[in-house]
Order: sequence, then C-alpha cells, then structure tokens
Amino acid sequence: MAARAQNFVCQSCGAASARWSGRCDACGAWNTLVEEGVGAKPRSSRKGRLFAVEPLKGEAHEAPRLGCGIAEFDRVTGGGLVRGSVLLLGGDPGIGKSTLLIEVAAAFARGQHRTVYISGEEAVAQVRLRAERLGLGDATVEVAAETSVEDIVATLSHGTTPRLLVIDSIQTMWTQTVEAAPGTVTQVRGSAAELIRFAKRTGAAVVLVGHVTKDGQIAGPRVVEHMVDAVLSFEGEGSHQFRILRAIKNRFGPTDEIGVFEMTGTGLREVPNPSELFLSERDLGSPGTAVFAGIEGTRPLLVEIQALVAPTTLGTPRRAVVGWDPSRLSMVLAVLEAHCGIRLSGHDVYLNVAGGLRIQEPAADLAAAAALVSSLARAPLPADAVYFGEVSLSGAVRPVAQTAARLKEAQKLGFAKAIAPEPARAEAPDGLSISTIGTLASLVADIARDGAPPLRRVGRQEA
Ligand code: TYD
Ligand code: MG
Repeated sequence: MAARAQNFVCQSCGAASARWSGRCDACGAWNTLVEEGVGAKPRSSRKGRLFAVEPLKGEAHEAPRLGCGIAEFDRVTGGGLVRGSVLLLGGDPGIGKSTLLIEVAAAFARGQHRTVYISGEEAVAQVRLRAERLGLGDATVEVAAETSVEDIVATLSHGTTPRLLVIDSIQTMWTQTVEAAPGTVTQVRGSAAELIRFAKRTGAAVVLVGHVTKDGQIAGPRVVEHMVDAVLSFEGEGSHQFRILRAIKNRFGPTDEIGVFEMTGTGLREVPNPSELFLSERDLGSPGTAVFAGIEGTRPLLVEIQALVAPTTLGTPRRAVVGWDPSRLSMVLAVLEAHCGIRLSGHDVYLNVAGGLRIQEPAADLAAAAALVSSLARAPLPADAVYFGEVSLSGAVRPVAQTAARLKEAQKLGFAKAIAPEPARAEAPDGLSISTIGTLASLVADIARDGAPPLRRVGRQEA
C-alpha cells in the first residue's frame, strides 16, 4: 500500500501530519491543523509573468515638490509637498489644525494652483468666516462641506486636477466600500485608502487631518499612519501661544525638523527665530533655571530649563517632568547622587522645559543638571550663560554634535558665556567665553561656591 501524503499542516509551527487532530503533536497548539493538499495537482497551469529587474545604480528623479511659501511648513515637510503624496496632520482638538491648513491652502492658491479644501466638520460659511478673520477672504481656494469619499473623488476627477486637497478631518469621512459606521476604524481606514488611491492616480497632494485621542495617538488610524507618506503632529500647550509642527514620519524628508508658529488673534504667525521667543519670558536672577543650547533638526534652538528641588513630605519623593524624558532625569539624579555627593532622596524634583517645547537630545543633560543643582543650592546661575553636554553614568561630561552651531546661536542672542565639554573651546566664535567642564562634580562645585548650605559643604568637599 502506498504511503499516505502528510497533508495536514499546523499553522503555528508548520509540522505536517497525515491525520487531523485537535491538537498539534509537535507544538501543542490547539485547532491549528489545516488541510493543505500537499502533493495535489496545481489548480491552474498559469505560468509566472516575467518582469524586469533593474540595477540599483541608475537615474534617480528628485521627488517633484511644491513649496507653499510658508517657510516653517515647508521645512517640516522636507521642502514642500510631494506630488501624489498623502500627509496626515494630527493634533489635539482646538490646537489650530484647520487654521494652519486654510493658511497653507491659501498660500498654494496664491501660486496659481488649484486648491480644494473639504470640511467634514464645519459648514462652508464657517470656513469662510475663519478665512476672512485670517485676512484670506479673497484667496482662490475652493471650499465644500462634504463627507462622502466617493462624491469627493467623483467631483474632483472632473476638470483640472487639484494640486492640493485638504480633508478636514479623516474621522468624518465615510466610504460605501465598507459597511461600518462613520468614525469607526474600518471606515477611517477605508476612506483613507480611497483618498490615497486618488492621490496616486492623479498626482494631487492630499493632506488629511486626524484627531488625536487623550493618550496622544492619532485616533483609530494608527493604521492610517502606515498607509500615508508623512505624518506631522501639531503640538502646543493650551496656555502658551507657541505651536510646534513636528514630522513623525516622512518618506520624502527628515523627521527631526520642527516648525514654530505663534497663535495670534489673526491666525498663525511664523516664528523664524524661535530662540528669541522661548527666551522672552525668562526669570532672570532666580535659582533653578538654565539656558540650554539645543539643536532641532538643522536649527539651533535656545530654551530655558526650569527645575525645582524642594524637601518632600512624602514617603516616596515626587519626580515630575514636562518636556523632557523622565528616564534621563532619573539618570541625571542618580549621577548627582553617586558622583557628586548630593542626596536627593528627601527632595521632590520638578523639571520643566519652558514654552511647551519637548526636548529629545541627551545634550540637555548638563543644562538640566545645572538647573537642578542651582535650585537645590538656591544659587542663581549666571544669566548670560548657556549650557550643553551629555552626562555619562560615570559622571563625565561628553561632547555633543553641532557644537559650533550651538555656540553661534548663543552669541547671536547676546550670551557671553558657554559651559560645555572640552571641544567647544576650539569652536568658539569671537566674543563668547567658554568654560569647559569635564565632570558633573566640577559643575556642582562651581555652582555650590556661591550657593546656600547644605550644598556649600558638599561643594567644598568635592572641590
Ligand atoms: P482650529 O484651527 O479650529 O483648531 P483645530 O482645527 O485643530 O481643532 O483653531 C481653533 C483655536 O484657535 C480656537 O481656540 C481659536 C484659536 N484661533 C486664534 O486664536 N486665532 C485665530 O485667528 C483663529 C482662526 C483661531
Ligand atoms: Mg478643525
């Protein structure tokens, strides 16, 4: 008798067996055996289609881009919107997404490109009212209040293809191709897929607005993030006028650039020199603040780091941080304890980056440490000094990238002094004095020299 073919295959581990059973003998998984017809005749005799493979080396075309002239927006997108690309703009409700996009649309329209703004949330009159308030009442943007993706695609397939199509917002759109209710993940995904197809087919750049949930995710459409070419997020603190546009994903550009805007009574104003803005409300002469010379993308950015170290009444002291990585704060605190003789277990620690900015660079370690020590010692830091440098677990202060750009920005904004790791000395521009720092302990000793007890004692021991 011929051996029977083993044609039941476990979908979990791939083991084959001749008989079906509820549990795979090889891996123990239940209900994973599926008959796969091993050795059966192929269902069709279709031969594979031949396609050409090409060498990687060859002529590459720069993605055709279209800038809108709003420099902060163009920088974040990597030099303008790419034809046929789809961009998702996420942000909290009320942060200014619609305001930004009507301004971008108006700027595009000014360049004689057909621009269409579809609102699923507001009536045409409301959109018009906002545009008028922004002084864009006469922009040649075409506006409609629509939510059916099929209707939108059908309408825009007539006449000149728009160069820019804004959909505000993707959560309000619905498509007949899926049966789910509007606003559900399935609808959002279906509608986005439909609009992406429209963009690829016609070459129009499409911008989708996406709402963000409380936990910071673009609601429902995490899936949409994978489908689109770029994801931007529009951020800001309610109490501040600053708005930061940040690229989270970009198939055609960098993801470390930020664009800075200020929300005014007449719309968003570009902020070409954000350092000035972030430093405009400094408390000069109070302890616990240090100016950090940072880099965001290609741009240097000076920002104030504020710390408060206060005796705790709790069993477990509080560690709260806004705008910086909490695990980096823990690390800096641990280094201060282990290598600088500072006891912080009886203190609450609060750290804040001024202006609602979020810093990701390790180069901020030194400025954060300086602010913390200054607060603990009640010793104000020099008002005309900037700080940067990465702190290692051994307590050494390490050099960071783009030292020259940081120093130049500090000098431009009228700072006289930089406290930074060694290589800074060689790169210093004229008129800026450099105080190089090798270890965190020596920074602590410097600050403690003019501080209040108990740190003065610590400082003297270390010095
Ligand atoms: P909006 O663009 O409607 O936010 P989103 O689309 O992200 O929900 O912006 C709404 C907020 O912006 C609202 O609180 C008022 C404020 N705003 C201004 O301060 N100045 C302006 O010129 C405009 C149009 C809005
Ligand atoms: Mg809106």
